[in-house]
Amino acid sequence: MSVQTQIPILDLKPQVEALWPELTAALEKVLKSTSFILGPEEQLLEKELAAKLGVKHAIGCNSGTDALYIALRALNLGPGDEVITSSFTFFATAEAISHVGATPVFVDIQADSMNLDLSKIEAAITPRTKAIIPVHLFGRPVDLDGLMAIAKKHGLKVVEDCAQSFGATWNGTQTGVTGEIGCFSFFPTKNLGAYGDAGLMTTNDDVLADTMRMLRVHGSRRRYYNECVGYNSRLDEMQAAILRVKLPHIDRWNEARRAVAQRYNELFQGHARIITPETVSGHVFHQFTLRVLDTDRDALQARLAEQGIGAMIYYPVPCHKLKLYEESHKGVVLPVTERLAREVISLPIWPEIAPESQALVAKAVVEALG
Ligand SMILES: Cc1ncc(COP(=O)(O)O)c(C=O)c1O
Repeated sequence: MSVQTQIPILDLKPQVEALWPELTAALEKVLKSTSFILGPEEQLLEKELAAKLGVKHAIGCNSGTDALYIALRALNLGPGDEVITSSFTFFATAEAISHVGATPVFVDIQADSMNLDLSKIEAAITPRTKAIIPVHLFGRPVDLDGLMAIAKKHGLKVVEDCAQSFGATWNGTQTGVTGEIGCFSFFPTKNLGAYGDAGLMTTNDDVLADTMRMLRVHGSRRRYYNECVGYNSRLDEMQAAILRVKLPHIDRWNEARRAVAQRYNELFQGHARIITPETVSGHVFHQFTLRVLDTDRDALQARLAEQGIGAMIYYPVPCHKLKLYEESHKGVVLPVTERLAREVISLPIWPEIAPESQALVAKAVVEALG
């Protein structure tokens, strides 16, 4: 570990360097095989991921966005249907709902967890509500017991957005295997990231698995015998090979992320204007996100940038405030979401970040707050 003066939000170099021999050997093997899409590496990866997550079916696809879209298609959601989700998420969550023609219904979050406030879900349920998409934001697992109880009571499907939560657990169970479908992203910045776009759908339901496999290849179970308008969303062999090299390390990396979060929490302890994230069990800290109170948060980010520190705002505009939903979601007020969108700032985190670099980040934040 080396102390850096420029501290980006994420540095993948230590990981690539550490795994260089395995990565290059894996890529060479794919090149020599000349099998580039949905080949043996992908099939092995699906088996390994299913075993790791403890789920019957793991189905590779091209991205986390595609995974969500295909999941909603597999559940037959479309125009006239409503899907409850968080507005405090990456747009892809809401985008997938809109993409299938359904309507996203945004429910407020809970300030401590930054995840859906379960106590507010039932008030948002209407006869048109068909599903809930909980987002395990920043790697923090949603209370899946509470959420599933609400879903069962109202006969709703659950699609877990696990884009940021690979390896996270709720009561010892991996995220992505409790709801009907789990959707993962292997975007390079994710806890388990490929070196290009890639994604995954998980389910214990044989029929849904079969439908999702059919949808990801142009709606065909048998080549050239297309059954419906599907999608071209295949996981390529290069990405599968890379993910297979990385998968055995994910628990160690997530453990290191938890230690990084713990160190930051200690560095900020007692600061009156900083709220640090809770270190609940099963959290994998995809991001380390502070809330800064009574502060010009954007000015803080700019001050940090001047010092070479890459802090990011996830997310400055909640989905219900995006221009595209302005008309359809007029009058939607989500006080906690809107407050957090003004208060949050994510700090540099990756498994190998040096404690000295963290100390520099913390010092810069505290000094900037004055
Ligand atoms: C919460 C959330 N959902 C969905 C996605 C979409 O994943 P991808 O970028 O692989 O399409 C992301 C990725 O950034 C995400 O953070």
